[in-house]
Amino acid sequence: MPAHTEPYANVLETIGWTPLIRLNKLTQGIRTPLYAKAEFFNPGGSVKDRIGLAMIEAAEREGRLRPGGLIVEATSGNTGVGLALAAAVKGYRCIFTMPDKMSQEKARLLRALGAEVIITPTAVPPDHPENYIVKGRTIAAAHPNAIFADQHYNPVNPEVHYRTTGPEIWEQTAGRITHFVCAPGTGGTVSGAGRFLKERNPKLRVVAGDPLGSIYTEYARTRQKTEGHPYKVEGIGGDKIPTSLHWDVIDEWITVPDKDAMLSVRRLAKEEGLFCGGSTGVNLVSALEVARRVDDPQALVVTVLCDTGERYLSKVYNDEWLRENQILDTDRARARGEELGRAAPHFRRADRYGASGAQSHEHLQRVPAPGARRRRRRGRRVRTGAHGQGVGAARHARPARPGGDGRAVSRGGRGSTRRAPHRALVA
Ligand SMILES: Cc1ncc(COP(=O)(O)O)c(C=O)c1O
Repeated sequence: MPAHTEPYANVLETIGWTPLIRLNKLTQGIRTPLYAKAEFFNPGGSVKDRIGLAMIEAAEREGRLRPGGLIVEATSGNTGVGLALAAAVKGYRCIFTMPDKMSQEKARLLRALGAEVIITPTAVPPDHPENYIVKGRTIAAAHPNAIFADQHYNPVNPEVHYRTTGPEIWEQTAGRITHFVCAPGTGGTVSGAGRFLKERNPKLRVVAGDPLGSIYTEYARTRQKTEGHPYKVEGIGGDKIPTSLHWDVIDEWITVPDKDAMLSVRRLAKEEGLFCGGSTGVNLVSALEVARRVDDPQALVVTVLCDTGERYLSKVYNDEWLRENQILDTDRARARGEELGRAAPHFRRADRYGASGAQSHEHLQRVPAPGARRRRRRGRRVRTGAHGQGVGAARHARPARPGGDGRAVSRGGRGSTRRAPHRALVA
């Protein structure tokens, strides 16, 4: 079905209804089909376009934001882009506070979209006046006709994912999704989409990836706030407890080190042609672990491709930066040249917690070198026989039924019926 067959009134109408795309190479040897919701197809290049527009529209409806007003937000970059797009179309001014660990590309992009960007130190406690959230709040409070968008504590954030992302995934999989895997930053995506999907199918499991160093996994297990430690992946994990993150929705947590996330997302670009940032690497590692463990052609795992890799050309896709941060093995990398996503075997430590904390355990899992992986896959394919190709492949696609579950599905939050949505047609 062709998309975009009619013109749009403005760029904001193109937010949402992102494609759901099957991963074919990274999943070889795994019988569970794995699909990815390609949120980088949004006009601002990330999942955050959805909440940028929704938070502004809610503030307008509530009379908190009037023409000519100021929008302030603490952002790792992507929410700023979502807000700045909507602010450009609607004529608002934007000021964003951003921690200094975030990539230069993001700050430049926000400035290109007309926003003012204030860089704050990453290494300060959450209650420090220079913390990016505290500083953003202070700036908003000092201006008349200004809102602090407050993605970490704004109920509109999970709500828009409940209203759009969740229903889109449900329809794109024709209700066959069994596992939703998504790493929380503010928690809006996993909480909103996860809640919608669980309401549709109470047996569906929601799994959260979490960067090693974030406090979320430990909080989920103990409900105690601990001290985290710095990590390099941007936009996910946290050192505070946001109300946009609904802990009750998440059944299991998987901890992913920076190295595994970044090397995996580089493979995603090279082997699947999907170019994304480091947070997508956390989703990918977690989703592959779930798919491998479930090992069932009748199951269906969906994860999220959060944002475009273009935002990380100076980091995740820069070998020098990876070496400086001990993410690449310098000697081996030099010896072998490129293809570092495939280079050295490395070890992945995945800590998994059930929501109850009762099944807490950890294990070491080896991610083998590509040669070893191929050898093992070959052996496995023989064992799995016809199932080795997986079920629900694109070749079984059939035309999507509008509202395939018999329920009206919101499109990008504005009810536009003119746009043909991307549907993965999972039959
Ligand atoms: C790159 C990136 N990935 C993932 C997320 C997480 O999404 P959410 O805040 O909905 O949990 C964010 C949030 O800022 C992000 O910037």
